[in-house]
Amino acid sequence: MSSNEDPKAKDVNDDAHAASPAHPPSDEKSGGGAYLFLSFIVGLALSMVVGWAVFPKVLYSKKSQPVDFSHKVHIEEVDNGCESCHFFREDGTFSGVPKLEQCIDCHEEVMVGTENETVFVEQYVAKEREVPWLVYSRQPDCVFFSHAAHIYGAQMECRTCHGDIGTSDTLKPYEENRITGYSRDIWGHSIAGFKHNSWDRMKMDDCAECHETAGIHDSSVQTGRDACFVCHK
Ligand code: HEC
Ligand code: HEC
Ligand code: HEC
Ligand code: HEC
Ligand code: HEC
Repeated sequence: MSSNEDPKAKDVNDDAHAASPAHPPSDEKSGGGAYLFLSFIVGLALSMVVGWAVFPKVLYSKKSQPVDFSHKVHIEEVDNGCESCHFFREDGTFSGVPKLEQCIDCHEEVMVGTENETVFVEQYVAKEREVPWLVYSRQPDCVFFSHAAHIYGAQMECRTCHGDIGTSDTLKPYEENRITGYSRDIWGHSIAGFKHNSWDRMKMDDCAECHETAGIHDSSVQTGRDACFVCHK
């Protein structure tokens, strides 16, 4: 980016030269130098803004969820905690994002009449239409992931991989990578690649990093024999 700014900085310098006959040489020299330095700083600042703020905005498109949902409110209303809506079926598969079935006992009709609830009841419950929730953690189709292995097998908490969604009051916008079509929660929010929490990112290396620490199989992505088929279909 900064190499793009260089020609501009040169232009400014040339301008100063073209105007030189009208000015005493000493004045022109120091003024041009300061101007050149200033435009370098401005250019640098601009490219940093483009790199750090604008680039992710261009790369990701934000979509809001079809209905906002408060985990905080609902966790007090249900009897069975998270499992009231996210449970394991008898065959061990994970139910994932809830279906209307998990909502209609309470939302047959509008209760409190907020805009959000009205949209939910009128557009989805009344029409028996499933809500097209956007799944933040959705992996590409080639990835095999089993909740049972991690929840029953490894006794892990939801938070380790999903952060605080389970206690949140509102659903954050879903950010879709315009190039890959994947959720931003896979690639991570820090464009510099920093990771502070285990749930900040869920790329191949993040799965593998934990598997290596936990000592399961030879699951190092680089070295493991047959390791690819642990996570890939
Ligand atoms: C009353 C139903 C209900 C209960 C109870 C509930 N959830 Fe949810 N949960 C939802 C709905 C609806 C969504 C869909 C929003 C979405 O797509 O993220 C969701 C989404 C999620 C997601 C996001 C999945 C993704 O990647 O998009 C996580 C994580 C989650 N819930 C965790 C929890 C945890 C942890 C608890 C218990 C503390 C819990 N939920 C209790 C209804 C519920
Ligand atoms: C055990 C009963 C119960 C279940 C099951 C339940 N809800 Fe609710 N829900 C409530 C109550 C009570 C409120 C009103 C809370 C309030 O605003 O005081 C509410 C409020 C809402 C609202 C409105 C919140 C707002 O911002 O105004 C939405 C949307 C909603 N629920 C969606 C769902 C969805 C989707 C499901 C199924 C995944 C679900 N609910 C399951 C009891 C339930
Ligand atoms: C080891 C990390 C890990 C743990 C622990 C974990 N999840 Fe997930 N979860 C994932 C991944 C990865 C996906 C995406 C799976 C895919 O797209 O194939 C996912 C997907 C989901 C989804 C969306 C599923 C869908 O496609 O409909 C929900 C809801 C969810 N998880 C809830 C939970 C809840 C609730 C818990 C705790 C009981 C939990 N998860 C524990 C990693 C984890
Ligand atoms: C924070 C730690 C952690 C993360 C992150 C994690 N896993 Fe795991 N995973 C485990 C542990 C521990 C086990 C072993 C469970 C057991 O004892 O059966 C496991 C087991 C598995 C298994 C079953 C392996 C087998 O042959 O039994 C698969 C498949 C798997 N993980 C895929 C994934 C994928 C894909 C991701 C990333 C999207 C992921 N895991 C992220 C800790 C993790
Ligand atoms: C611990 C689990 C795990 C193992 C082991 C693993 N992968 Fe992956 N792989 C993933 C996950 C999760 C993704 C999706 C996220 C990403 O792109 O990083 C992925 C993505 C990929 C992709 C890109 C697919 C796409 O559609 O973007 C390729 C190619 C790939 N893996 C190849 C391999 C090969 C080859 C091996 C064996 C050397 C391997 N993987 C081992 C978890 C794993």
